Amino acid sequence: MTSDLIALLRDDLFDAEYTADTVESLWGPDAAAALRRGQREPARRAVATSSAAAGTLATVFVLGLPVPVDRLAHALPALGTDGAVTLELVRVDGGLAVPLLDLRPHAFVDARGAGSWWIASDLGEVALRRAIPENHVLGVGGASLTLAGLMVGEKVDTVLDLGTGCGIQALHAARHAKRVVATDISERALELARFNAALNGVTTIEFRAGSLYEPVAGERFDRIVSNPPFVITPRGEGVPSYEYRDGGLVGDALVASVISQAAEHLQPGGVAQLLGNWEYRDGDDAFDRVGGWLDHTGLDAWIVEREVQDAALYAETWIRDGGILPRTDEFDALYAAWLDDFAERGVTSIGFGYVTLRRPRTGVPTLRRLERLNGGLGNNPAGLGAHVAATLAAHDAQLSLTDATLATTALVVAADVTEERHYWPGDEDPTVMDLRQGGGFGRTYPLGTALAAVVGACDGELELGAICSAVAQLLEVDEGELLAEVLPSVRELVTTGFLSL
Ligand SMILES: C[S@@+](CC[C@H](N)C(=O)[O-])C[C@H]1O[C@@H](n2cnc3c(N)ncnc32)[C@H](O)[C@@H]1O
Repeated sequence: MTSDLIALLRDDLFDAEYTADTVESLWGPDAAAALRRGQREPARRAVATSSAAAGTLATVFVLGLPVPVDRLAHALPALGTDGAVTLELVRVDGGLAVPLLDLRPHAFVDARGAGSWWIASDLGEVALRRAIPENHVLGVGGASLTLAGLMVGEKVDTVLDLGTGCGIQALHAARHAKRVVATDISERALELARFNAALNGVTTIEFRAGSLYEPVAGERFDRIVSNPPFVITPRGEGVPSYEYRDGGLVGDALVASVISQAAEHLQPGGVAQLLGNWEYRDGDDAFDRVGGWLDHTGLDAWIVEREVQDAALYAETWIRDGGILPRTDEFDALYAAWLDDFAERGVTSIGFGYVTLRRPRTGVPTLRRLERLNGGLGNNPAGLGAHVAATLAAHDAQLSLTDATLATTALVVAADVTEERHYWPGDEDPTVMDLRQGGGFGRTYPLGTALAAVVGACDGELELGAICSAVAQLLEVDEGELLAEVLPSVRELVTTGFLSL
């Protein structure tokens, strides 16, 4: 019965051309931008006179505004208002259809190409006109898009999506996995995720309730993805604990648990990808603590810190995210609770970043890379997933070569790499030279004279050793010393995608 109604809903959404492009064109980019800032009035005005079914659907399910029952019935001719009530999309109140859920089109591009889904989630703060409840099920947010974009998209048998929420990561994973297990501690999240899978015709996701890895005890996966509830929240009376972002543990312990238990659930060669926060305590480097979580896991690990916020800014950001307005007593009380909690552990700032873990096939980890890349990313139209996969593969490839073999290998500069030179005015020789990567993390790599000359000659034909020999002659330095000097940089440039083997 429900599945029949979902099929009718799908037909209606399809016939209404309820797509991200249609919705954006209905109210235009400025109203869309206002909506992202939490202001729906410009969008409401733009669609007020629209007779298009997509306009009605966007009014109800994106702006969260009631419409007359017959207007909704017109926009959902197959499902009808009764069907929408049965699916708990709306309730009827005095001739008005009042939204109960957010339901919006989501367009994406990933490793398998372009696609689009309709995603149901709980109504947000803009629609509710008040702070969101603690059991709120999040829609597709910035962090969801970040993790989806990071996902390594090679075909695999099994993926675990831990903390599935509305199911967005599981849906992405289902595009490259034969079977996906999606878990959540929230029954409501699982219900919505199930609904979204059915609405989008995805049948390969199995949904399970439970905390962390409990629902998959004893099971291993080719991939684990998780946008876990990593937000550091004070524990105590009066502090809301939002299921969607707060795992109920103290400080960054939840992220530590997801990381340290991943090894038990990965197949050999399996990769886990997650987002996380970590605390900087008493001026210590947070990477020392994160490194401690990795110890004894036996996993390869690559951690990229993207951002660091001071403790006060972090508290402000997340209190506001729950829909609590600044300059209110509630905000001030929570702010105090957050700062007290941080003070108790000596937390001065909080890092946010991407975590990639891999269970080595040999059983022996070879990768432990913890780095800070706080700048803008490169251009990655289908997300960073391909770059992540290429980085892991390039690390393995260069590591498998001895220095002698690497010297007999021809390397080629990647197509997205350019060289920047900066000169003091009037000087002939550059004072600064950098390689710049157009894709991936948009890295820059500093060049000395020898390395610049070597990289410049990497055309895929000449062996590295021969290039070094020619450069050494040119610079009148010892050939062996020059090779030894550039080899570590060459390995790093291969791993990070500036050079390919
Ligand atoms: C930040 S949301 C991520 C939702 C979705 N995967 C995404 O990427 O948008 C975190 C999810 O983890 C769930 N969660 C909270 N505590 C959990 C726990 N202990 N074990 C498993 N899931 C949990 C929440 O209910 C929520 O759905």
